[in-house]
Amino acid sequence: MIYTSLLEAIGRTPVVHLKRYSKAVGVEVYAKLESLNPGGSHKARIALGMLLDAEQRGLLRRGSGQTIVEPSGGNTGIGLAIAANLLGYRLWLVIPDNYSVEKQKLLRLYGATVVLSDSTKGNNSHGEKALEIQMENPGFIMLNQQRNPANPQTHRDTTALEILSDFESLSIDVFVSGIGTGGHLTGVGEVLKTRWPKLSVYGVEPEGCDLLNDQHISHGIQGLSVGLIPAVLNCDLIDGMVAVSESECVDMSRELLHTEAISMGISSAANFVAISKLAKGDLSPGATVFTMVYDGIESYLNYFE
Ligand SMILES: Cc1ncc(COP(=O)(O)O)c(C=O)c1O
Repeated sequence: MIYTSLLEAIGRTPVVHLKRYSKAVGVEVYAKLESLNPGGSHKARIALGMLLDAEQRGLLRRGSGQTIVEPSGGNTGIGLAIAANLLGYRLWLVIPDNYSVEKQKLLRLYGATVVLSDSTKGNNSHGEKALEIQMENPGFIMLNQQRNPANPQTHRDTTALEILSDFESLSIDVFVSGIGTGGHLTGVGEVLKTRWPKLSVYGVEPEGCDLLNDQHISHGIQGLSVGLIPAVLNCDLIDGMVAVSESECVDMSRELLHTEAISMGISSAANFVAISKLAKGDLSPGATVFTMVYDGIESYLNYFE
């Protein structure tokens, strides 16, 4: 396949049956490798989806050099940097100052202006700082992934349809999903529950957080539980929440790199920690469990020093 733009290479990511891990936990686990998207994460999808939506609504004009400002833990930022460079926009990104330094460097290399927010002000320090910047610069456009309906809609239109096509002859019993903006849990969860009404959706959160009761603490699992209940999250889809610790995730990330050779970041490993816990009681033996690998281990090597 020859693409005319990198943007056309977003999506159509492979699903892998993790056979060794499945055998170890007693359920059949399938993971969609979103890490293989351009920019290295599922966020490439929504970055492009939100940009195209803003163009359609007349907020952005392609090639205009308008400035987009967005709070991002890094992955949405990388997706936006790719799309902004190719579609002719400037980009300012606000990132918590305790997030991956590698991603900050990479975003600057793409040409984005990176502003760091004070992470001691809470998990959503970058969201608050980005709003401040937008108030000071009324011409800046904020796509606001936490509130933008184009975020879950992109997952309904792309990620979820790819999953339905891959699982044409195999039904999914359980979907295990991290929650940052809630975009992929909502978009994928809604479509999968419509296709398989008995499917259960489990959300994954860092120990000490209780997202559904609006309780948040600061934690080290980047991308999850950003300190508020995101507006795009459809809480009604969630059948249960599983709490995981950072050290469990780090160990799982290392283990799955050895046993399955799948590179995954800490928040992706969180899904597998949750599956291991659920498999000990809540899941029927042999159940078909679906989850996603959001990004690779490369941005998190400092967790392993
Ligand atoms: C590494 C990582 N994992 C998980 C998530 C959660 O995805 P979503 O925003 O669709 O809930 C994010 C979101 O920023 C992320 O960057």
